[in-house]
Amino acid sequence: MTGRPRVLLTRRWPEEVERTMAERFDLVVDQADVPLDQRTLASAMAEFDVLCPTVSDRIDSEVIAGGNRVKLIANYGVGFDHIDLAAAKAKGIAVTNTPGVLTDATADLALTLMLMAARRAGEGEREVRAGQWTGWRPTHLLGSSLGGKVLGLIGFGRIAQATARRARGFGMRIAYFGRREADPAIARELEAEFHPDLASLLSVADFVSLHVPGGPETENLIDAAALAAMKPGAYLINTARGSVVDHAALAYALREGRLAGAGLDVYPHEPKVPDELAGLENVVLLPHLGSATQETRTAMGLRAIANIEAWIEGQPLPDRVA
Ligand code: DGY
Repeated sequence: MTGRPRVLLTRRWPEEVERTMAERFDLVVDQADVPLDQRTLASAMAEFDVLCPTVSDRIDSEVIAGGNRVKLIANYGVGFDHIDLAAAKAKGIAVTNTPGVLTDATADLALTLMLMAARRAGEGEREVRAGQWTGWRPTHLLGSSLGGKVLGLIGFGRIAQATARRARGFGMRIAYFGRREADPAIARELEAEFHPDLASLLSVADFVSLHVPGGPETENLIDAAALAAMKPGAYLINTARGSVVDHAALAYALREGRLAGAGLDVYPHEPKVPDELAGLENVVLLPHLGSATQETRTAMGLRAIANIEAWIEGQPLPDRVA
């Protein structure tokens, strides 16, 4: 491409990234910083060369059909289940994401959720803030230790492995279920036990942490049957995508005490949190904070810039997913 491409950011990005982009591109930023409606996204397809959406935008086939100018969708985030890749591909639009740079932050948050759920930190904080704490006592808010417990990872990509590394620091043992066995060097380093079958992994894990992509293949992977296959008193942690879990079935398992707790960062229809969960004490609910550190969100922006620049120069795109 010759000249400065016209680039749309659908949301505000970290200041340093916006500044760099404005120096290099003809940049438009939606200052309102709320999700754009489908009509606005569709018309953007005719007005910009590059569209930079986030997980809060739904780039479906109708949006993609909205115009012929956009040639690159540079997503701000690693997950891309909100983008219709087939429709983009059919129109010759390249799609990129921002892998790698958010691995550590997301793994940190998976551990945060595990610790908060196991140590009942949300319940304790609510009690203190409500002025209901009556003082130390031997049986107050007893939770569960992580040490010696089995962490069962569903999916064993970068974020799952980083989560396993941290969990080993807490004395946990690692098991995983995935499409294939991990690189033997990684399995050895993490002493990770492969389970080729989901039910088998669920039956041994004290904590189950989800690390699979969203989309039709994983929708409701953790349904009532999967929850019933988990160990009684186990915990479910989700930093992947809300669509992976049947939340009505999860709420039932938590209410009945079949599961001891859950820690969730993602939901099927964000920002809506399933009503049946909001009233339960034994679930930690965070607002999709996996990659939310200053450093990580800046690195994600710089990664998107690298993809846009490669596209301008006609080079292979570093993080092409379609
Ligand atoms: C990701 O990177 O996929 C995060 O969930 C935010 O989009």
